[in-house]
Amino acid sequence: MKKDALIQCLIQYTEYQASGCNTLLEYLESRQYQVHYHCRDGYCGACRTELISGQVEYPKEPLAFVRRGEILPCCCRPTADLTIKAEPKK
Ligand code: FES
Repeated sequence: MKKDALIQCLIQYTEYQASGCNTLLEYLESRQYQVHYHCRDGYCGACRTELISGQVEYPKEPLAFVRRGEILPCCCRPTADLTIKAEPKK
């Protein structure tokens, strides 16, 4: 994915909660964003996404390596408003 194709995306915690989505990836897919993924379970790291601000939790600890300032949307849930870099749906 080209870095310049990414835009800042604000996720409101209250909207995420009201959506009924189990993961941030599900929520992003239900909105106007597309995220690259493979395993959807925290193993491969394909969904690695830049976290600009906010916090997430991992109900199950992911096996994929996550650097500081990155999150794995396939297996995390927001615990506050988030700003991330994501690709708009085409
Ligand atoms: S899709 Fe594999 S870790 Fe997220």
